[in-house]
Amino acid sequence: MKHLKMKPVLAIYPGSFDPVTNGHLDLIERGAKIFDRLVVAILQNADKEPLFSLAERTEMLREVTAPLPNVDVDCFHGLLVDYARQRKGQVLLRGIRAVSDYEFELQMAMMNRKLEPGLETVFMLPAAEYSFLSSRLVREIARLGGSVSGLVPVAVERRLRAKVI
Ligand code: PNS
Repeated sequence: MKHLKMKPVLAIYPGSFDPVTNGHLDLIERGAKIFDRLVVAILQNADKEPLFSLAERTEMLREVTAPLPNVDVDCFHGLLVDYARQRKGQVLLRGIRAVSDYEFELQMAMMNRKLEPGLETVFMLPAAEYSFLSSRLVREIARLGGSVSGLVPVAVERRLRAKVI
């Protein structure tokens, strides 16, 4: 049998990560297991005022992904497909928590495919315990004085507390 030499697969996991949650981290760990390299790409969003600056979001992600040797953290602006092309990524990784995520994710995946047919979107499921978790809810709970313990990494919890005081 002919031995085929497989090209290492670089996957890109894009998002706002404002802030990174344990659900994101769970997906990053799952992605890092099946792809050769995983780039967590933070969107530099011009029209949405984030709670954490790009520098803060990058710092937090670098801290929590430090134990994963094949994971890099980067940021991007403009079209995701342009960024993926520039990084020579073959896969876009996205998490789907519930059926409600699917419609929007499908729309984005199909649009990205239209823009760049060679790029594959791969969906992965986070652990069931994170299926209700979102950065938006984490921000709201922290702002209203609730506990986000167990929902975000400890480093993020600390920064959230400092931010909302
Ligand atoms: O964490 P989020 O906010 O759900 O991530 C959304 C993200 C960053 C994946 C999406 O908004 C995006 O890809 N933005 C970049 C602009 C772009 O390429 N838009 C066309 C998508 S079809």
